[in-house]
Amino acid sequence: MPRPEVPVDLPSSLGAAQAAAQVCTRCALCATATRTVWGEGPAQTDLMIVGEQPGDHEDLAGRPFVGPAGQVLRQAMASAGIDPGAVWLTNAVKHFKFTPRGRQRLHQTPDRAEILACHWWMGLELALVQPRLTLALGATAAFALTGREGPHAARVGTVETGLHDGPVRITWHPSYLLRLPEGEPRDAALHQLIADLRAAHQAAS
Ligand code: URA
Repeated sequence: MPRPEVPVDLPSSLGAAQAAAQVCTRCALCATATRTVWGEGPAQTDLMIVGEQPGDHEDLAGRPFVGPAGQVLRQAMASAGIDPGAVWLTNAVKHFKFTPRGRQRLHQTPDRAEILACHWWMGLELALVQPRLTLALGATAAFALTGREGPHAARVGTVETGLHDGPVRITWHPSYLLRLPEGEPRDAALHQLIADLRAAHQAAS
């Protein structure tokens, strides 16, 4: 997979990049999503946390990680001593992909072409935010940041070199925790997520 392309002659600030991303038509997801959900956080910060794509709540609110998975992530960040306002929170794919089912919109995993189309924006975010370390939540973010795939469980808790040459720590996606049975399996995954958040925070500081 190619490195995230850093656009030439394009937005030189996060604000300008966000405005440009609002009218992105690089893949078909723009036709059905409500809006582009851009990342948020300080203009330059040491830690970037990357999820998969906005969900139903994020698509409506226009902000990353404000729905149920976001609540899990934000609680885990608090347990790890991370101020959510001090990190750059974003997604590998910036439009919500879903299948309509009655009045519901059911999440669909983005495919390779959609991840690659959005790579362009991730390259721009990485170049502008300049994090010392990125934390990939789940397999889509891990693929988008490293270009590599493989059994996700074996990668959780490890650090790989990203396509942008920086370190990428890999962990569980908070939505995965919500799909696990309550009790031991979910507790163990939450424990790992908090440990990875803490390790990422320390390594980036
Ligand atoms: N899941 C993600 O990966 N990102 C969000 O912003 C919300 C849910």
